[in-house]
Amino acid sequence: MKYLLSFCALFALAACHSYKTLPGTKVESHWKVREIPASPQQRGGDPEAGFAFIGGGSYIGSGVPYDFFKKKMAGNPDTVLQREGINANVAYAASVFEAANGEKVVSGNCFTCHAGRIEGEIVPGLGNSFSEYENNLAPFAKFLRIAMDLKYNKQSSEWQAFDDFSRYFRKMAPYIQTNQPGANPAFRLAEACMMHRKPDDLTYTKEPNYEMMDYTIATDVPPLWHVKKKNALYYNGIGRGDFTKLLFQASVLGIPDSTQARQAINGFKDVLAWLEELDPPAYPGPVDQALAAKGQALFEEHCSKCHGTYGESESYPNKLVSLSLVKTDPMYANYAYNSGIVDWYNSSWFAQTWPRSYFEPNLGYVAPPLDGIWATAPYLHNGSVPTVDALLNSSSRPAVWKRSGNSQDYDHHALGWNYKVPDNSKGDWVFDTSLPGYSNKGHYFGDKLTDDERYAVIEYLKTL
Ligand code: HEC
Ligand code: HEC
Repeated sequence: MKYLLSFCALFALAACHSYKTLPGTKVESHWKVREIPASPQQRGGDPEAGFAFIGGGSYIGSGVPYDFFKKKMAGNPDTVLQREGINANVAYAASVFEAANGEKVVSGNCFTCHAGRIEGEIVPGLGNSFSEYENNLAPFAKFLRIAMDLKYNKQSSEWQAFDDFSRYFRKMAPYIQTNQPGANPAFRLAEACMMHRKPDDLTYTKEPNYEMMDYTIATDVPPLWHVKKKNALYYNGIGRGDFTKLLFQASVLGIPDSTQARQAINGFKDVLAWLEELDPPAYPGPVDQALAAKGQALFEEHCSKCHGTYGESESYPNKLVSLSLVKTDPMYANYAYNSGIVDWYNSSWFAQTWPRSYFEPNLGYVAPPLDGIWATAPYLHNGSVPTVDALLNSSSRPAVWKRSGNSQDYDHHALGWNYKVPDNSKGDWVFDTSLPGYSNKGHYFGDKLTDDERYAVIEYLKTL
């Protein structure tokens, strides 16, 4: 597993770069809540093919030669996705696929970040809240390049299949080191790769297209079973238009150009079909049905206008809530709002060719669906709150909290991770809400509930 983690961090090397300073924390108040309209989506894909594509498709386009890794990867077979063929020998978070020149290469896949652990099980589609991007991965990446040089000639087909991946990997590395355990810098990763791609044909350009701010802001990872209800993707609702193009975004890590991208994009119609069918894991404990019924009435009174209704009369209103109303940490929304990635994206292959996706940044956050909420701790976009109980009672939220890092260490009463309040803010799995971007403030909508009412709502949430 340790080896796997450092492999998944294959996304790194040192490079020089210029920086913008930390963005302000602008909070607009001329709007409170907006409804996000739907965009046409491509239907009719094959869910099984979509699941297989995530675990073995060539959407990253390039990677490390499989031959190079084969020995080291042996003894770590896939026990999670139950893949067949060559990928049966590779741990679930990595995939072997063919680069454009036919060379077999390895790279991380969507499940590096989008398969999570809960109560000892790895669940595809659950966000991985145990990822670790606090270490500087540059030494490992440097070693990789040197080792590639020793083993293969620069003109070899192995090097050709590695080259694009290696390039973006190196450009991205300085930007993805985080200062908080579990926080995931995926948006930074995309931003850093797109910074070195020409917008129209996605080919590499040495000159950066824009500047990036000098602070790595990262988030929790949302579960993928919400996609079927959403009209816009991402915590801030920035991802609009065609979802297959948005799902394809991770490709910027290694796809050589827009010709390759056009071929790989087809698989995402199937991925979208898989997401349409993906359901959350059911709550594994007993539920007090009478208490849950009381909770449902309270939920519908206080929460449904933003989070929707569940069960027989299912509805989801797709509400974007302004920073001035939700009052949660504004940095992530501000950061995306100010990033050069927005203009780049909207002038790029992603937005200028059919099917069109585009970025529409907002100073607010989407009120997410709450299906499977029991399994998705920690809470809020920045993962700053360890349990649902603490989320619904803001005075009980810990400023610094430490979980064990074991997914079986789960609190069924508070719904979320068991935690301790440590003596200091450093150490393994210690989350420090005083760091910029990771405040646990805001979302005060549960504060008006009495203790009894809150536990009724929590009982109801177990059933979603
Ligand atoms: C390096 C980790 C990482 C990888 C690899 C990754 N993602 Fe994500 N993904 C994230 C994070 C973090 C977010 C949340 C970003 C946000 O909402 O602003 C996210 C958001 C999403 C969303 C939006 C969900 C929502 O509710 O709005 C979808 C859909 C998604 N990813 C699909 C994929 C697919 C498909 C792949 C593979 C092609 C992939 N991701 C690869 C980390 C990753
Ligand atoms: C005015 C709209 C609004 C109301 C009312 C509201 N919420 Fe929320 N809720 C949000 C928004 C927006 C977020 C995302 C905030 C963020 O991530 O910064 C959120 C996040 C959450 C989350 C965390 C989701 C996650 O995956 O991290 C939970 C749980 C939640 N709300 C439950 C409730 C409950 C229970 C109620 C009723 C007592 C409620 N909310 C009332 C807008 C609302």
